[in-house]
Amino acid sequence: MAKLTYLSHAACLLETNGHKILMDPFLTGNPLAPVEPEDVECNFIILTHGHGDHVGDTVDIAKRNDATVIANYEIATWCGEQGLTAHPLHLGGGHDFPFGRVKLTIAHHGSGYQTDKGILYMGNPAGVLVTVEGKTLYHAGDTALFYDMKLIGEMNSIDLALLPIGDNFTMGIDDAVKATEFLNPKTVVPIHYKTFEVIDVDPNEFVEKARAKGFDAQVVDFGGDLTI
Ligand code: NI
Ligand code: MN
Repeated sequence: MAKLTYLSHAACLLETNGHKILMDPFLTGNPLAPVEPEDVECNFIILTHGHGDHVGDTVDIAKRNDATVIANYEIATWCGEQGLTAHPLHLGGGHDFPFGRVKLTIAHHGSGYQTDKGILYMGNPAGVLVTVEGKTLYHAGDTALFYDMKLIGEMNSIDLALLPIGDNFTMGIDDAVKATEFLNPKTVVPIHYKTFEVIDVDPNEFVEKARAKGFDAQVVDFGGDLTI
């Protein structure tokens, strides 16, 4: 069984067969983060897109753990420039890693990274399908609702979907409920809420609405976990 720990916002840690895969590790500057970046152990880091609240502490954590970053080509190249080991993927492409398979899907969003010299282009934003131990996790990244989620749901038996619900920058609650219908996951967990004032929505409202449609929806506490 694989264990997923929710680290608030879009950050989570997946543990499977001795591997630790960290996703979108925004901890420094995140008022909800249940752990310090210095305390995180991982051997891979997956990034959905280049926004600061997703790249987060990637450089420090990857250096300290000698972890490999998995991301789109533009982010992977930037990580290489920071002295990290990175494996580039791009939308629609997947690769078998020692822990399982990672495939990037489309997401409708932005992917600029803020630097001293302005915004740096970081390629297209992505969602991620991670398959470990025969179970498939879909991390939607930051995205609007899109109809091709139906195709993602048709072509993949999704055991756990992590969907943003915070509105303003991503889907809000009602769009995320529709996304759940398109994806048809065994379990859905809301993410990307409460971190900032503009995304301070109630995850229980999402859970109630998704359950009313017949889905197993669960709020996972910041620092809490579930097995898939
Ligand atoms: Ni974003
Ligand atoms: Mn975000």
